[in-house]
Amino acid sequence: MKHVKDHFEEEAEVFDGLIRTLIPYYDDMVNSLVLALPFNEKEVIRVLDLGCGTGNISKKLKKRFPQAHITCVDLAENMVQIAKSKLVDYSDIEFKLADFRDLNFQEEYDAVISSLALHHLQPEEQKSFYCKINDFLKKGGVFYNADNITGNSPHLNQIYIDRWVDFILKTHTQEEVETVWLPKHREEDSPSPLRKHIQWMEEAGFCEVDVVWKYYYFGVYGGRK
Ligand SMILES: C[S@@+](CC[C@H](N)C(=O)[O-])C[C@H]1O[C@@H](n2cnc3c(N)ncnc32)[C@H](O)[C@@H]1O
Repeated sequence: MKHVKDHFEEEAEVFDGLIRTLIPYYDDMVNSLVLALPFNEKEVIRVLDLGCGTGNISKKLKKRFPQAHITCVDLAENMVQIAKSKLVDYSDIEFKLADFRDLNFQEEYDAVISSLALHHLQPEEQKSFYCKINDFLKKGGVFYNADNITGNSPHLNQIYIDRWVDFILKTHTQEEVETVWLPKHREEDSPSPLRKHIQWMEEAGFCEVDVVWKYYYFGVYGGRK
């Protein structure tokens, strides 16, 4: 996890611009996650944002649910600093500089959300982490994740990667893709097939598990406790 932390400490200043050149339809993807949350906009809800980064998802969430109390968690200090300044107008957002694997909450949250962070876990950790997330939620609470996922066959997976690279090439050179972005991806990311995530979530006790949004190598999925 140290190289993940180091990567985001270094990238924090440029993250908001960069992420939109690396993740296809980033805003559309994250908006679909926020839309999936089944609450009334006036409700007072407690939300946990795992790997909050520079606070983009929490900011969108506060626009839709102004009464939400959010716990933002990230292990990269520089990312959290930017999130704090972006969300400075809200007094009901708490920041925790921590590895989210070390969290221990018991039935405290109405929603757990995450974007582009859980694929940093190893596949065997991802499965057991869904059990932990289930514990964090109140009964009836929801978990939604926007993330890097793989195809369910070598052929589909290659198509997903090719479409992803096509997107990056709109703003980056082939050389940069080959010497920076693909090596970083291989070193830091451990995505799994969407079908596995659905299975792991169901095994962890979630119901109503569904896929909200998908574009080749990226998907938004979740369910209810
Ligand atoms: C690609 S960024 C995404 C940030 C934000 N969620 C977004 O979608 O804009 C991934 C973030 O997850 C954080 N992260 C990755 N693994 C983590 C862990 N185990 N504990 C806490 N934060 C983690 C990184 O520090 C980074 O800020």
